[in-house]
Amino acid sequence: MDMKKMAGDKAAEYVKDGMVVGLGTGSTAYHMVNAIGERVKNGLKIQAIPTSKATEAQARELGIPLLTIDEVDHVDLDIDGVDEIDPQFNAIKGGGGALYREKVVATLAKEVIWIMDESKLVDHIGAFHLPVEIAQYGSKQAMARMEEYGWKPVLRVRDGKTFVTDNGNYIADLHLGAGFDIEDVREKLGTIVGVLEHGLFLNMCKRMIVGTSSEGVRVIE
Ligand code: 5RP
Repeated sequence: MDMKKMAGDKAAEYVKDGMVVGLGTGSTAYHMVNAIGERVKNGLKIQAIPTSKATEAQARELGIPLLTIDEVDHVDLDIDGVDEIDPQFNAIKGGGGALYREKVVATLAKEVIWIMDESKLVDHIGAFHLPVEIAQYGSKQAMARMEEYGWKPVLRVRDGKTFVTDNGNYIADLHLGAGFDIEDVREKLGTIVGVLEHGLFLNMCKRMIVGTSSEGVRVIE
């Protein structure tokens, strides 16, 4: 079976009646949302918060009852994908450009589960570019600050056009290299005007569910 599907299907088992559930974004989360949709059809009673317009459309199609972020004061369980994660549970997210909503939902959650295929497990994060959501106004200035720090920012482009997030902003992808100083970059990002959020999700979860080619699905806690 597809490793992403294995992880998504397994994660859906952690959803219980009555929960407010954060629904992540991306190709792994897609399987999880489908599996939850199946359980909802079979009587599971939950309410969910999608982390992107794409996930919202998928969940709506499946008949999963949805809430907006302003309608809740907590999330019981958030399940989402990652781009890279190290053994200390430091993750990079935002490959799909949904990092801002993903972080809002994850920080509200009592419990977070990251789901992935085994390729996402790394010793040190940073080989994958670090996505940073920046305001359109002044984006060149913010990019220049990131360039000065030596982070090699690249404004994300999709289909020949500057990529615009669900929140109407741009994404700068930083090329930091594996083993970069996480704390230093996190702190400096906080000082740049126009940076709205970044894709460092540090030690936010206690459980990862990994689809592997050799041993099926692995739950790492
Ligand atoms: C989207 C994300 C995704 O969760 C991350 O990019 C992983 O995606 P996939 O499951 O498709 O590999 O952070 O913003």
